[in-house]
Amino acid sequence: MEIDWKPLIQAARAASEHAYAPFSKFKVGAALLTTDGRIFTGCNVENRTYGLTICAERCAITAWVAAGSPGQLQALVVHADLSPPARPCGMCRETLAEFAKDLPILLINPDDEHEEVSLKEIFPQPFEWAGP
Ligand code: THU
Repeated sequence: MEIDWKPLIQAARAASEHAYAPFSKFKVGAALLTTDGRIFTGCNVENRTYGLTICAERCAITAWVAAGSPGQLQALVVHADLSPPARPCGMCRETLAEFAKDLPILLINPDDEHEEVSLKEIFPQPFEWAGP
């Protein structure tokens, strides 16, 4: 299915402006599209202990889960001021893999430089334990 990236890019960009990143000054925004057409956004939320920092991608996932996990994850946009565009960290890849076997991901920066990758491509071997 063809993804309409434009509203997702706008949402990720807007979310990045809400980032709480006084320590790194690196603002990240994420926008998740679900199969029922809804968009869930997230931004990075840093903490003075550093280790408690939440990335934008996981922030968007928790917003989707808190809304009842409607539909299925269909696409993700990550926006940050980096060239080449920033890729999700390992922890976010693992978290995305909890909820999607594969996912088209558009990485983009303020100059519209972008790269499309897939979750499978950037995280080919997730932890697959099914639980007890
Ligand atoms: N960050 C994200 O929001 N997503 C990532 O995938 C990588 C890193 C944030 C965390 C921290 O606030 C800042 O970027 C610098 O690492």
